[in-house]
Amino acid sequence: MIALQSRAQRELNRPMLEYSPMSSERIYLDYAATTPVDPRVLEAMQPYFMQHFGNPSSHHGWGLHAQQAIDSSRQQVAESLNCAPEEIIFTACGSESDNLALRGAAFAARQERDANRILTSPVEHPAILNTAKQLESIHDFQLELLPIDRFGLVDPQILADRISPDVAAVSIIYANNEIGSIHPISELSQICREHQVPLHTDAVQAASQLPIDVESLGVDLMSLGSHKFYGPKGIGALYIRSGISLVPALTGGGQEYGLRSGTHNTPLIVGFSEALRITLAERQEHNRHFLQLREHLISQVIDSIPDVLLTGHPDHRLPNHASFVFRHIQGHQLVEVLDREGFGCSSGSACKTGDPEPSFVIQALGIDPSFALGSLRITLGRHTRMDHIDALLKVLPTVIQDLRSSKHGNP
Ligand SMILES: Cc1ncc(COP(=O)(O)O)c(C=O)c1O
Repeated sequence: MIALQSRAQRELNRPMLEYSPMSSERIYLDYAATTPVDPRVLEAMQPYFMQHFGNPSSHHGWGLHAQQAIDSSRQQVAESLNCAPEEIIFTACGSESDNLALRGAAFAARQERDANRILTSPVEHPAILNTAKQLESIHDFQLELLPIDRFGLVDPQILADRISPDVAAVSIIYANNEIGSIHPISELSQICREHQVPLHTDAVQAASQLPIDVESLGVDLMSLGSHKFYGPKGIGALYIRSGISLVPALTGGGQEYGLRSGTHNTPLIVGFSEALRITLAERQEHNRHFLQLREHLISQVIDSIPDVLLTGHPDHRLPNHASFVFRHIQGHQLVEVLDREGFGCSSGSACKTGDPEPSFVIQALGIDPSFALGSLRITLGRHTRMDHIDALLKVLPTVIQDLRSSKHGNP
């Protein structure tokens, strides 16, 4: 029988080294949560902590050196996105980019054209959803959540039916973090463009695996965060198409074209651009690898475990992403037991104050309540191998069976 231990108890017994993504004992399968920093990225960042530490706003050699590093990083990111350098601003994370994009576009559209509606989907990351809810509750915007299909996708026709010039901004996630489904962003952007309404997309998950050419996507605003593609945490970027107005969220010394004040974090900006450059250069090769492993994983889980559903779109999904719901399982318990067995995965459902709740994404999909608590997300990375997947497949059916028959409070 599987015994559940408290997290703190388990931590005490574990040497840190075991957590390396290349560990043979513990297998990390949560790359959508975060990725380790690529050693090439770390190397590129290192000189900017101690050697070239100047403030890029300073008018001396130290400052100029840091400014040059930021300029060439911005140029590099712009090339990766196929835009002009001045259309990129650096932020502190994907969440900040999302906040600035939606709040900034909504306030500007109200000032400039008296637009008051916000259209988004019910399966956005909380950085968008909670910003949209705050715009509604505190700032009197009219928030409309567009209906989604069973894969968590907004039908472009529905957007076309709902959009009008009084919409301040539309925000639709590119690839969903929890269920991996990919939106047809270029179709959605075409509709927004016809109505001259700015479209923001949250590409925080997508950037590691999908095309991010802003001209082909046709987006006006796009959020990125580097810790999802082997860059450092604490740094994000926002693409802002020339001509799109935003009201700044952080006011101060006027850095980042007046849209995001605060002394630049040179090493993290350098790390962001190097991580993105490497990601784009190696993307095809990694995606091929992910697809092979993911197809094996999904088919084996479906074949070997009764009462399981794949969540998200079977084909239009991130190559590294597999997500399921298991009937009569509590996802948070499943993640804990898998952790004890040596696997790092995640679940959208959480247990708050002893009361398990399905994630809002699973709820929005309308999944049967007997399945809704049992979500599991397995996301692959550059270090994941077929024998890692096979090791998980060896234990998962037994873990599920034990949890279903155990007395750990399953529904
Ligand atoms: C789709 C999506 N958007 C936004 C974020 C927030 O990014 P950050 O952690 O950089 O704030 C995440 C992080 O999980 C995400 O998956």
